[in-house]
Amino acid sequence: HTVYVPRDTTACSLGAEAIAQQLGRHLAMHSPDCRLVRNGSRGAFWLEPLLEVETEQGRLAYGPVTPEQLPDLLAAGLLAGTTEHPLYLGPVDDIPWLRRQQRLTFARAGVTDPLSIEDYRTHGGFVGLKKALSMTPQALVDEVKASGLRGRGGAAFPAGIKWQTVLDAPADNPGNPQSGRKFIVCNADEGDSGTFADRLVMEADPYMLIEGMIIAGLAVGADYGFIYLRSEYPLAHQVLQEAITRAEQAGWLGADMQGSGRDFQLEVRLGAGAYICGEETSLLDSLEGKRGMVRAKPPLPALKGAFGQPTVVNNVLTLAAVPWIIDQGGQAYANHGQGRSLGTMPFQLAGNIERGGLVELAFGPTLRELVEDFGGGTRSGRPMQAIQVGGPLGAYLPAAQWDTSLDYEAFAEAGAVLGHGGVVVFDDTVDMAQQARFAMEFCMVESCGKCTPCRIGSVRGVEVIDRIIADDNRAAQLDLLAELCDTMEFGSLCAMGGMTPNPVRSAVEHFPDAFGVTPESSA
Ligand code: NAI
Ligand code: SF4
Repeated sequence: HTVYVPRDTTACSLGAEAIAQQLGRHLAMHSPDCRLVRNGSRGAFWLEPLLEVETEQGRLAYGPVTPEQLPDLLAAGLLAGTTEHPLYLGPVDDIPWLRRQQRLTFARAGVTDPLSIEDYRTHGGFVGLKKALSMTPQALVDEVKASGLRGRGGAAFPAGIKWQTVLDAPADNPGNPQSGRKFIVCNADEGDSGTFADRLVMEADPYMLIEGMIIAGLAVGADYGFIYLRSEYPLAHQVLQEAITRAEQAGWLGADMQGSGRDFQLEVRLGAGAYICGEETSLLDSLEGKRGMVRAKPPLPALKGAFGQPTVVNNVLTLAAVPWIIDQGGQAYANHGQGRSLGTMPFQLAGNIERGGLVELAFGPTLRELVEDFGGGTRSGRPMQAIQVGGPLGAYLPAAQWDTSLDYEAFAEAGAVLGHGGVVVFDDTVDMAQQARFAMEFCMVESCGKCTPCRIGSVRGVEVIDRIIADDNRAAQLDLLAELCDTMEFGSLCAMGGMTPNPVRSAVEHFPDAFGVTPESSA
């Protein structure tokens, strides 16, 4: 018998650690033959802590289980796979919320023990890398181009084109101690509100990220990688460190990988809590030990990145998609999705939502299908008012836009962004004017300070919105806010100041009542 208790930050915050301890004691006394495995999370956070028991009928699921409920569940026959308890959910693979997803990247999440290389290999791990070791760099880049994979961090730049730029970039840089080298940098500074997909990869399937980074290295000629991890993810840090050590010991990482004569070293570097260090150029500054400030582009990091050398900077999700692509072929990945949005996207349902968690789907369904069919509407039971997609710099979408199809182009047409796939739901009690104010305040707090429209504009933005709310010369202040948003959009050096107008404008446009704008007053 095997019983699974997730060791994931969300599950642990809901009592999984206490459950594992209780269960461990119980097994030692009553069922010494039963194995307790700490798996990753399947991302069905609304069911966490989700316990699973291996039986002849497959893995049976129970959840959400609290530590207080465990004795009762054990007495009812948990270890024998009881089907007679109110917390019994059926075979885990039959839970519709999971079954209806198209999991390519997250196929192993929650299934395996994240740190077991044996588990990883049993479930298709390192097949892509084995293949990659016998491919030419150009063939690897071509495969990624064929997949249509675009940067999953938010900007959706084609990953294959970025890799081609780095592959073709000369690394000779006289006078630079790092001359001759190229680097792979994984952006794991997941800072968007309501997002957790990067964390889930790192906690539930760390070897997939490691494998993706090694393949990226083979493709562009880099032998060193950095994972720039936000310090707010201590568990992911632990898991990654341990996974790196074990991968090195097993010969999948380090010198002469699998006797191929190829080398790749990997290191985790921790951030210090700044949102802006998720922007690639300030991330590189921070990585190099400086204060994280945005650098002007050009030069692109692809040509002059970490320590002045050609560098691939990709998000966790982008790199994590690579092993599957190399294993199954770029075309197989491109068979999912639509238009120029190919493959799958890990959407993250959060905020006021009944069934929050990770939903990986091929691009194409509507936002409404995602939040209603998967999300089940609001947790509060009240009507949904607005959905913010793409993090704190994404637009608020009103009901009239919920039938927008989930793909990059359709969202751009609606004046919105998919970003990193964060989907945060707000019910009808939320004051949208306060949400607009929050966007400016967030920019004010997180601005790196390098350019005026963002550093000063955000402060003025908070003041202007306060005056609008207080009806202090409202009409003129609304005009001023529109002008300020234009200045920030066109005058800012990076997306922080440049995208802050998204939530602000969408709130004003779609929820005018909240700003005291009635049809008469705007006429
Ligand atoms: P960008 O459009 O300037 O660049 C996208 C990427 O493509 C960059 O890595 C850039 O260096 C690269 N690139 C552009 N042209 C290239 C070329 N010709 N050859 C090779 N590489 C090239 O966007 P940026 O500023 O990097 O990202 C903005 C996005 O970040 C926003 O859309 C937002 O959704 C997202 N974001 C994500 C967050 C998260 O937590 N994941 C947080 C905040 C923002
Ligand atoms: Fe820094 Fe803001 Fe300018 Fe970006 S827009 S460079 S965060 S001041």
